[in-house]
Amino acid sequence: MKILDVISLKKVYRTGSEDLTVLKEVNLSVNQGTTTVISGESGSGKSTFLYLIGGLDTVTSGKIIFKNINIASSSESDLTGYRCKQLGFIFQFHYLLKDFTAFENVLMPSYIMGIPLQRARLRAEKLLERVGLVARMRHYPVQLSGGERQRVAVARALMNDPVLILADEPTGNLDEKNSIQVKNILFELVNEYGKTMILVSHNPELADAGDRHFHLEHGVLSQV
Ligand SMILES: Nc1ncnc2c1ncn2[C@@H]1O[C@H](COP(=O)(O)OP(=O)(O)OP(=O)(O)O)[C@@H](O)[C@H]1O
Ligand SMILES: [Mg+2]
Repeated sequence: MKILDVISLKKVYRTGSEDLTVLKEVNLSVNQGTTTVISGESGSGKSTFLYLIGGLDTVTSGKIIFKNINIASSSESDLTGYRCKQLGFIFQFHYLLKDFTAFENVLMPSYIMGIPLQRARLRAEKLLERVGLVARMRHYPVQLSGGERQRVAVARALMNDPVLILADEPTGNLDEKNSIQVKNILFELVNEYGKTMILVSHNPELADAGDRHFHLEHGVLSQV
């Protein structure tokens, strides 16, 4: 079943009098339960593309149809609901909240949604166990290694049982060993929970990890 359809997506950034066309004409269909990996050089527009799908930035033209709703023309309040209920984000720079422990960071999406605390705590604990971080639950982000922070981010992304996971360079700043560990955990969990994922990365190691591989270049996406 198709859950996402990106049609003729275009994104132009305007800075001063300059126009920068980052996405020229991007088309992508995603079926439920599949993993799509998008590679591309630094500056090719990978993060921009994920931000648009996530409703975190506005499109210049084109459509992003998620379950029959065009995200590109949704109101801000609809987008908030979409992000909280349907999406799990893993950002390029983990974006954990520094004043909260690993456990609290994983709990945060459920807390925002108003899920009963008792139930949320059990799920957060289970997810932290799955990413191998039970012993680090009470640590603050500065007290975690880079790989551990990304594993917390993976657990957090799954917390609200999202339909679609958007992963932006999840192994970006890690050494090879940690990069492989985070990649394995992420793909294991995505498969185990039957999630759909779009992952962008310039790491060639990740390219073959998904069901499909696309390359973004000169504002156009092509299947590899
Ligand atoms: N808010 C903005 N205003 C103007 N230009 C921007 C803005 N955000 C990004 N850009 C430009 O758009 C291009 C694509 O940026 P983007 O962050 O999507 O690239 P990327 O493929 O994710 O790169 P990386 O691999 O380094 O993360 C870059 O050239 C960047 O300078
Ligand atoms: Mg990026």
